[in-house]
Amino acid sequence: MNTITVLVTGSNGLLGQKLTEKILEEGRVKLIATSKGKNRYPTQNGYLYAEMDILNPEQVKQVIDKYKPDSIIHTAAITNVDTAEADKALCHRLNVDAVQTLISLCEEKNIQLVHLSTDFVFDGANGPYKEDDAVNPLSYYGESKVMAEELLKNSKANWAILRTILVYGITNDMSRSNIVLWAKGALEKGLPINVVNDQWRMPTLAEDLAEACILAVEKNARGIYNVSGKDYMSIADLVRKVADYWALNQSIISEISSESLNQTAKRPIRTGFVLDKTIKDLGYNPHSFEEGLKIVDEQMKKNY
Ligand SMILES: NC(=O)c1ccc[n+]([C@@H]2O[C@H](COP(=O)([O-])OP(=O)(O)OC[C@H]3O[C@@H](n4cnc5c(N)ncnc54)[C@H](OP(=O)(O)O)[C@@H]3O)[C@@H](O)[C@H]2O)c1
Repeated sequence: MNTITVLVTGSNGLLGQKLTEKILEEGRVKLIATSKGKNRYPTQNGYLYAEMDILNPEQVKQVIDKYKPDSIIHTAAITNVDTAEADKALCHRLNVDAVQTLISLCEEKNIQLVHLSTDFVFDGANGPYKEDDAVNPLSYYGESKVMAEELLKNSKANWAILRTILVYGITNDMSRSNIVLWAKGALEKGLPINVVNDQWRMPTLAEDLAEACILAVEKNARGIYNVSGKDYMSIADLVRKVADYWALNQSIISEISSESLNQTAKRPIRTGFVLDKTIKDLGYNPHSFEEGLKIVDEQMKKNY
């Protein structure tokens, strides 16, 4: 059996590092990890790393020509929703133009392109959403992801789009935090926190998302797939579950409305996904939120 060679973009990120970890542990595919700058994954053995800035089309072409992957899992992106809103030009270059660079190369070289997208393509009026529900982004981040999805749909590439929601987990030297680590960290220090009680999500364990990406490669998936955790909750409930799990003081959690937060980018109220298609077609089997917290806790005790 020929082992599939997978090139991961943004391998220093949360999903990128979880993909690296999983591939090294399970050996189901061969890995070429790529990211901007130096490799921040702690182990250098068992895979190849190449520096690849997705804003540099010449470098992207050179790396793909050199390593000849069968599939690309494209995780690199501008992922901070407020930064994307404040710098739309940069967001367009990273989340749209760079995707076109990859699409052109994947068309030319017959490479499968597994692209990461978001629940923020929806307006949040009617969640949970199915894959074919109409998109209506409220933020420029969401709009940029819709534009990239359109490029893929109109391309001749062999593409799969994995949409995901509020990813949490822990890795080495993280570029940014996530809701679980933020809430745990603040409550442990006794810092009072404000959390919104009028936004609903299905938080996704980074390991589950990494597994879905590898399943999409192994099954040569094509089309759009919803990939999230299976539990639906408000952000306030999520934070209370974090407090419960680590037995932290809940009296310093204040529930507020989204309106009072005054964030740069607007957030959808009620997202969440119907997971039936991904469970049936890919064999996706996500953990519960409680199980996810247990996994993060064990990793913190062991590695971080
Ligand atoms: N996290 C979520 O809650 C969430 C929700 C919905 C969808 N998604 C999507 O899922 C994907 C993965 O997200 P994530 O949580 O793993 O994000 P992340 O932790 O922010 O990782 C993104 C990675 O992309 C890298 N990157 C940025 N600019 C680059 C460039 N020009 N060239 C190469 N690499 C570059 C970053 O490098 P540095 O580390 O050096 O900055 C970072 O390591 C993204 O497409 C995101 O939009 C995420």
